[in-house]
Amino acid sequence: MNYSRILGTGSYLPKKMVTNDELSKTVDTTDEWIATRTGIRARYVSNQEETSSYMGYHASLRAVEAAGLSVNDIDMIIVATTTPDKGLPNTACLLQERLGVTHIPAFDITAACAGFLYALSIADQYLRGGIIKTILVVGVDVLTAVTNWEDRSTCVLFGDGAGAVVLQVTDKPGILSTHLHADGRQKDSLTIPTWLPGQRKDDEPAYIHMDGRAVFRFAVKALGQVVEEALAANNMPQSAIDWLIPHQANLRIITALAEKLKLPLDKVVVTVDRHANTSAASVPMALDEAVRDGRIQRGQTLLLEAIGGGFVWGAALIIY
Ligand code: COA
Repeated sequence: MNYSRILGTGSYLPKKMVTNDELSKTVDTTDEWIATRTGIRARYVSNQEETSSYMGYHASLRAVEAAGLSVNDIDMIIVATTTPDKGLPNTACLLQERLGVTHIPAFDITAACAGFLYALSIADQYLRGGIIKTILVVGVDVLTAVTNWEDRSTCVLFGDGAGAVVLQVTDKPGILSTHLHADGRQKDSLTIPTWLPGQRKDDEPAYIHMDGRAVFRFAVKALGQVVEEALAANNMPQSAIDWLIPHQANLRIITALAEKLKLPLDKVVVTVDRHANTSAASVPMALDEAVRDGRIQRGQTLLLEAIGGGFVWGAALIIY
């Protein structure tokens, strides 16, 4: 039987870090308010050069190196992003060109903060099916570019970054299962209402709008259900999980899920305090951090989950 195995992980954070205290000089907020409500203390904000393809490139090089491969071993690139460099071409093509592997398929998928889970699931199907041997999956976003820096209810929440994994087909257990969901009825809870310049009224900028309480409520419920679904599909008890690698939006959402899974917080990879919500990058960046600092070991069982605007959400159970 074929499985997809994570061979290597990588990530990239922009050079500039902005703390809550720094933010409170330009917008009416405080470190105390932000930290209490969200667990966030700082975020990284990209410069003009640090686009999705740029950050994705640097995360990818690190993942390929960690995998012990060369970029020429990659057979397909999937990039999850809501903030592509351009309308056309897709970010995966720009990344493919940067990597110098201009002979392989490369495409983007858009599923907001759940984008990495969606991309991972697509890659898993190709690998399990034996169609392709090695896939590079990247989660990257520059949400600060679509943030209204005068709106204190959203601008404190987001940051930029990229995470990447190299997956390869193997006969030993790797990704056990992936579980994806969407509910378009929630389309107005978390949205960037206009995107293409021609759609904008009076050049209204394309900014994130969010009903924070609605997102919070939905996230806790939906994530609780999808992690149960993942465990049940594998006939696995909660106690089998070595590491929860959650989407990093809000420490209160993460804590609620850990409590539901009866997992102590030291079994949960948390980066939201330093990275804030980096959308599609949040799960692969957290994974990379915990792999590189030695917390996550080969053979351990990982539970990944994420939710984003749509709503779209998902989970994956993985033997690392
Ligand atoms: N600093 C200070 N005060 C702020 C503020 C800020 N950055 N942002 C909002 N406030 C104020 C509001 O104006 C409101 O004031 P009012 O009572 O005088 O009207 C008050 O704080 C409470 O706002 P509220 O929205 O009710 O706070 P909350 O406890 O629900 O927390 C969020 C807000 C956004 C932190 C919380 O709802 C949340 O995390 N939601 C989920 C967000 C998320 O995860 N999004 C991404 C999903 S992928």
